Amino acid sequence: MIENVFETELGRAVSGDSLELMAELESQSVDLIVTSPPFGLVRKKSYGNKDSDEYVNWFRPFAQEMSRILKPNGSLVIDLGGAWTKGVPTKSLYQYKLLICLCDEFGFNLCQDFFWWNPSKLPTPAEWVTIRRIRVKDAVNCIWWLSPTPWPKASNRRVLSAYSKSMEVLLKHGYQPRLRPSGHDISTKFQKDNGGAIPPNVLAIANTRSTDPYVRFCEANALKIHDARFPAELPAFFVKFLSDPGDFVFDPFAGSCMTGAVSEQLGRKWMCCDLIREFVSGGRGYFQGDFQLGTDSSVLYEIRKPDPRPSRDPEMQLDSGREFRRSRNDDRGDVM
Ligand SMILES: C[S@@+](CC[C@H](N)C(=O)[O-])C[C@H]1O[C@@H](n2cnc3c(N)ncnc32)[C@H](O)[C@@H]1O
Repeated sequence: MIENVFETELGRAVSGDSLELMAELESQSVDLIVTSPPFGLVRKKSYGNKDSDEYVNWFRPFAQEMSRILKPNGSLVIDLGGAWTKGVPTKSLYQYKLLICLCDEFGFNLCQDFFWWNPSKLPTPAEWVTIRRIRVKDAVNCIWWLSPTPWPKASNRRVLSAYSKSMEVLLKHGYQPRLRPSGHDISTKFQKDNGGAIPPNVLAIANTRSTDPYVRFCEANALKIHDARFPAELPAFFVKFLSDPGDFVFDPFAGSCMTGAVSEQLGRKWMCCDLIREFVSGGRGYFQGDFQLGTDSSVLYEIRKPDPRPSRDPEMQLDSGREFRRSRNDDRGDVM
């Protein structure tokens, strides 16, 4: 049963099964779906790929409804975290299987694959990353941007980020037009200030909020705090990029209603639905008080280039460029 939890000027937050809710929505009535379905459904199996097949089977009815309710020039944006196979250092293929299913069976086009890099991600799974040291930090989520058409509504002019320092210098002092070794002709057009840099398909957003209006509201009302919220910048990027003010944005796996909160701030109509009423109730916190989308896009995260020199790790020395020689100490239990 679908239950209204709260309403705002532009939107509605409901609890219940979104499959049931979507069945009530008119065909081709939604401009944009931005959502992060539960990835916990990927069962940790120690063999084969059954986990990813189960996930795709579970998702199929949702995909059917999503493709029916989206407008022909609308977009579906799905954020999916990675999952590891139980007991072995290999990853589930469920994100890729889902992508192929959505395109092959439901006629979606992959407009672009995005990757959300969370610079504050902890080094997990500990067994492979910090204990055995045979994998690196798993720090990106896949985000599939899909649409019924190859030509959905979109403008990268709405998601420009701050220019780099070097670009600012170039804009101020000018650039000597020349042919690059790559063959690209860098003309004087590069000196034009377009209001910001066109972002890449890697979105760098640390998920490190300790407290915000949502958390304060949940604490004050003894509501469970959702432990898998995405940061506001993530839905905000796609809402701005792929919809206009007044458009209708929907999140069928809404959790804390972050997509709704962001849509309200950006002047879009919205609807959010989550199976768990308590999560939806907590979402009220975004609409009471001081929730504001940040305006600062100049924050820089640092990622170092891989070091091409022979390993300086005292535990493992590169020998003659061919062999690895273990050192005296075993590095088990070394926590970063
Ligand atoms: C990864 S969380 C979404 C978190 C959300 N993006 C946020 O920022 O708070 C996935 C959510 O999907 C919800 N969910 C799972 N199955 C559902 C269904 N059939 N209908 C509605 N919500 C569902 C879960 O309760 C969970 O809160």
